Amino acid sequence: MSLTQKFPRVELSHLPTPLELLNNVSAEFDTNVWIKRDDCTGLAFGGNKSRQLEFYIGQALEQGADTLLTTGAVQSNHVRMTVAAARKMGLEVEVQLEHRVDRNQPEYHQSGNPYLVRLMGAKIHYYPEGEDEAGADLALERRASELERQGRKAYVIPLSNAHTPYGALGYVDCGEELMSQLNRREIEPTRFIVPSGSASTHTGFLLGVRACGCHAPVHGVCVRRDAQSQKQRVATKLRAVIDTIGSDIDIPDAEIFCDDSMLAPGYGLPNEDTVAAIKYLARREGILLDPTYSGKTFAVLLKLLQGGNYRAQDNLVFLHTGGAASLFAYPELVEQA
Ligand SMILES: Cc1ncc(COP(=O)(O)O)c(C=O)c1O
Repeated sequence: MSLTQKFPRVELSHLPTPLELLNNVSAEFDTNVWIKRDDCTGLAFGGNKSRQLEFYIGQALEQGADTLLTTGAVQSNHVRMTVAAARKMGLEVEVQLEHRVDRNQPEYHQSGNPYLVRLMGAKIHYYPEGEDEAGADLALERRASELERQGRKAYVIPLSNAHTPYGALGYVDCGEELMSQLNRREIEPTRFIVPSGSASTHTGFLLGVRACGCHAPVHGVCVRRDAQSQKQRVATKLRAVIDTIGSDIDIPDAEIFCDDSMLAPGYGLPNEDTVAAIKYLARREGILLDPTYSGKTFAVLLKLLQGGNYRAQDNLVFLHTGGAASLFAYPELVEQA
């Protein structure tokens, strides 16, 4: 039985997502490189957030909400998918776009995710800071109170680590789902490579695979903050998820691995290795990554492969969390690297 069985949930994703071998990459490096296709969850271009939203919206409906409120960067995939999920469930939706990335190019503000948010007709608010999670959440709470005074009932999907991480439950499920796919094919994973942003994905996934008895390293790739801060964030979230689930599983801090080697020059800003990795996977396999999350994560995997550390019997598993809609906000990438 899944650890998340008892929580209210709605169905938003096409599950299970496929597990595929990257044939050309595997042949080039003489090892096995697998890809878990969470870019194919199906909701308005797909991506990891639909698994998380299934649990948030489950709570929202249980509380009788008629409106969803959330916050994120201008090119946030989470914001795009929240709007799509609200539309699917017949809910109103308002989003707050934060000034998190210094990019003035018109495409960054008008194309990709914000284009889709406008297409789906969400009300948009702006927040002038990009590194003020508590303030961004507070602004949502204020808006929720305003709506309440108008007779509406809003549900806030928060950003900061101070809230119950219902979203991570979606990745506990993903870890369990992937382990059953690997077991069925008798694949012994050597290492998992996953992105680590708000940390719901990394935390839930780590718990999900450990709960299935798998002890392979889960290599979290930092996309938002340095490795030390991210490790603390994952540790806090892990305790909160374990408490929420009511599990007695113990995952020592030493098993929380965060790698910030691809973080520079910062959130939403791809470096040369990331651009090269995006082009590499597009040209080798026809698979699209994004400049903020999946591109940085795959760039770390590519460095590991180029280091020549893996053999024919090894199995590296890359969790593709989507995000390719934001490629249209970075038209210059095609000319770079
Ligand atoms: C495409 C994509 N991958 C990965 C992440 C990181 O997931 P998390 O915030 O759960 O760490 C995000 C977050 O917005 C995302 O949009």
